[in-house]
Amino acid sequence: MNRLIIIGASGHGKVAADIAGLNGYTDIVFLDDNENVKSCGGYKVIGDSKTVTDGDVFIAIGNAEVRKRLSEGRNIVTLIHPHAVIARDAVIGEGTVVMAGAVINPGARIGRGCIINTCSSVDHDCTVGDYCHVAVGAHLCGTVKTGDCTWIGAGATVSNNVNICGNCTIGAGCVVVKDIAEPGTYVGVPARKINGGQD
Ligand SMILES: CC(C)(COP(=O)(O)OP(=O)(O)OC[C@H]1O[C@@H](n2cnc3c(N)ncnc32)[C@H](O)[C@@H]1OP(=O)(O)O)[C@@H](O)C(=O)NCCC(=O)NCCS
Repeated sequence: MNRLIIIGASGHGKVAADIAGLNGYTDIVFLDDNENVKSCGGYKVIGDSKTVTDGDVFIAIGNAEVRKRLSEGRNIVTLIHPHAVIARDAVIGEGTVVMAGAVINPGARIGRGCIINTCSSVDHDCTVGDYCHVAVGAHLCGTVKTGDCTWIGAGATVSNNVNICGNCTIGAGCVVVKDIAEPGTYVGVPARKINGGQD
């Protein structure tokens, strides 16, 4: 059977379904806990996230903690858009999606359950932790490290050799020029902390 079950019938799920189709899946269905959502991207929602059905599974949930919880104990598939550019030696964890126009350069290691979003880049020798999101158009320069569950916002830039700990939210357009060792939300140029939580 060539079925992919995508958990999360959202805009993100719609993009994942498109990539799955390009990866050869011909039978794509969604699960979602919102019973009012009946379809996504032209594909049917057939039940909630606890529904048991045969097929490969992909978790299309933006929130890192929820994505992590739903991924645990499941064999989740990796989805890579055919127009992403990925170095031959790059390592990409299971359950990660790499979207159109993304570039992942040599020596990069991407964890489990990550989102490497449209036209973002992860440069040479970066290490991206599990359940991270490098949002649309964000750029990690060479040898950047991010801890687990960190979100690099749209269009943000992280300078080369910078380490960012886990559970950080880096705001859209932010420029990170120094290590960040304390979880929290950071915005601006250069990055400054605005509060202790994560969306
Ligand atoms: C950083 C972010 C998470 C903060 O959200 P929040 O906690 O709800 O914060 P608020 O909107 O209440 O803003 C708090 C303050 O930070 C400022 N701020 C928020 N985001 C900012 C950003 N990206 N750059 C600069 N300043 C920002 C606000 O103007 C506000 O300033 P003020 O107190 O002087 O009025 C959010 O604004 C953001 O940038 N999200 C990223 C979105 C994104 O990249 N999506 C990707 C989809 S692929």
